[in-house]
Amino acid sequence: MSINIHTQGCKRSFGLVLISLMLVAGLLNSNATAGEANPHDTKQVEQGRLIYKQFCAVCHGENLEGQANWRKRKSDGKLPAPPHDETGHTWHHSDNVLFGITKNGLVPPHAPANYKSDMPAWGTTLKDSDIWAVLAYIKSRWSTKTRAIQAGINVKAAK
Ligand code: HEC
Repeated sequence: MSINIHTQGCKRSFGLVLISLMLVAGLLNSNATAGEANPHDTKQVEQGRLIYKQFCAVCHGENLEGQANWRKRKSDGKLPAPPHDETGHTWHHSDNVLFGITKNGLVPPHAPANYKSDMPAWGTTLKDSDIWAVLAYIKSRWSTKTRAIQAGINVKAAK
């Protein structure tokens, strides 16, 4: 009898260990997918399109075209919002850099300390998964060739 109870207890704790392992694996897994901007994931792209429209289009343009004369500093010394389409330089940066700029704004390490910019930090307004989604949407608007070049930049940045 007592042996029986003992083995049952063992089985139960083994079960608990298994469940905990599965939970940890699940968490790791969901983190991995949340940290991706996949222009082929239609659901993520659609989520990003709505976020872009609501939060980004006012400066970066309804069609990702950016503000007029975006290369020229304004009289206040700040730069206008650049396009996110292929005419801009968004695609010159890795996903992680774009994520960092979107989440934290133009602060170190992506800009000099005390750099003055109109680009807001979105980390308090948007969830990380929203930021990855908006980047997926932006990437979905680039040509296959530009996406391939930017994918190469991601690979280099990961080294
Ligand atoms: C109030 C205007 C404004 C809004 C709204 C805005 N941005 Fe910006 N953004 C800027 C400006 C201005 C810059 C360029 C800043 C500089 O270089 O000084 C910029 C730069 C960027 C860059 C860097 C691009 C590059 O090639 O270096 C990214 C990425 C970016 N914005 C993403 C976003 C996203 C995503 C949103 C919406 C969630 C957004 N921005 C909303 C003004 C804005």
